[in-house]
Amino acid sequence: MTKKLQIYKCNTCGNIVEVLISGNGDLVCCGNAMELLEPKNNDDLTTEKHSPKIHNSENKTIIKLENHPMEDEHYIMFIQAQTEDKNNVFIKYLYPHNKAEMEILENLTINDAISYCNIHGLYKGSKIND
Ligand SMILES: [Fe+2]
Repeated sequence: MTKKLQIYKCNTCGNIVEVLISGNGDLVCCGNAMELLEPKNNDDLTTEKHSPKIHNSENKTIIKLENHPMEDEHYIMFIQAQTEDKNNVFIKYLYPHNKAEMEILENLTINDAISYCNIHGLYKGSKIND
């Protein structure tokens, strides 16, 4: 059984999928069960900073990674943010040489964010009080 907004990866072809509405079935790709990606929340294994930092202000939220490479071989592929109730979800796809940053111009409180590095995987964000 899946849960809303879980992210799964196929370790054969590299497909990454997100659950929009959960169901009872297991996700299968290339003939095998897909791997559930659990976001990591620390940077112990790498020297770069992978956890997106969430900066809420009155009318907007900025989510960014300040010290992660954005090079052709190693970069953040997307940042996703959601409200606590998961009823509002925002995703920004990123490419090498982009700024690893997303801006949400809505008056919503964003408490959760994740980022995905093409080499190191999925990381949870943390909220910064400015
Ligand atoms: Fe990385």
